[in-house]
Amino acid sequence: MSSDAFTALFAAKPVLLAPMEDVSDAIFRRICRQLGADACFTEFVNVDSLLLGCSRSERKLRLEEDDQPTAIQIYGANPARLVEAARIAEAAGPAFIDINCGCWVPRIARRGAGAGWLRDPDAMVAMAEQVVRAVSLPVTVKTRIGWGPEDQMPIVELASRLEQVGVRALTVHCRTAKMGYTGTADWRWAGLAQAAVRMPVVVNGDIRTAEDVQRALAETGCAGTMLGRGAIEHPWVFREVKALREGRSPTPPTPAERLRLLREHLLANVAVRKPGWGVPYTRRYLAGYLRDVEGGAALRAHLNTSGDLDDWLERITTLEARVVDSARGGAHLAG
Ligand SMILES: Cc1cc2nc3c(=O)[nH]c(=O)nc-3n(C[C@H](O)[C@H](O)[C@H](O)COP(=O)(O)O)c2cc1C
Repeated sequence: MSSDAFTALFAAKPVLLAPMEDVSDAIFRRICRQLGADACFTEFVNVDSLLLGCSRSERKLRLEEDDQPTAIQIYGANPARLVEAARIAEAAGPAFIDINCGCWVPRIARRGAGAGWLRDPDAMVAMAEQVVRAVSLPVTVKTRIGWGPEDQMPIVELASRLEQVGVRALTVHCRTAKMGYTGTADWRWAGLAQAAVRMPVVVNGDIRTAEDVQRALAETGCAGTMLGRGAIEHPWVFREVKALREGRSPTPPTPAERLRLLREHLLANVAVRKPGWGVPYTRRYLAGYLRDVEGGAALRAHLNTSGDLDDWLERITTLEARVVDSARGGAHLAG
């Protein structure tokens, strides 16, 4: 993505699909983009595995032509390897390159990767500068507000130091690394970081609904928002954000639409994954698709124990026929 296109993307207060391991794959990115996500991030790519030529990392790097704008996210503890991986990632043609400095998972952060960088902000800034210099694409960083429990979170000073070395945007998951997913995200830190820099700051953490997106932007003055779990629970959130942005009231998905998208997602997963993997992989999205569908809870309970594609399809189709019938009945009664 050119520098101008990058600037234009972030000037439009974008709503972004978060990088999520085992969730934000090419299929889910396409779904979210079709529903209105302005840009997506890949699952994080381990630089050591990538440099070893591991097929899983190479798969994560592969972007279809219509998978734009998508950033490739890399993570690692060694600056030289991050630089090398960034060059490989650049050749895959993403919109920009994102460095993960926010993963709190102990086996990653303890080794100095992900949020581990927050324990040494000087090293983080120096590493980011090396990556920026190594590639022509814009480089962004995603991190947390601090390692925890600092009195004064380093994120505000970090934002301006990262900007000085050429980082083009910063996403802040507004928790410390030590918090993991406990407590609530404190969006004020993203607002303070945005006030300290000219580059776009994206606020992230506990933004679940279109109304949350509007509130987070209004409260922080940030350039954009990023949604993770909210998108898994309800991918239509992106469509709802667009509607609110354009002054329309959001249209919630009908039960039939929910089941249709579940079927499409299932078939796409089955088509690209190894035999026997696509069906169980789809389970993580079930709660979202089947929410507010009459009979959805029972279907979910069943599908969580079934790994048989034909069984899934048959049961989804049966419930679909039932919800379409009941919608017709409702329309008839209303008429
Ligand atoms: C299943 C899952 C996988 C995640 N994987 C990544 C990842 O690969 N890279 C990353 O930067 N963050 C990852 N995250 C963190 C999210 O990008 C996001 O920062 C976090 O979930 C907070 O946002 P939310 O409250 O909207 O979910 C992951 C989160 C979840 C739930």
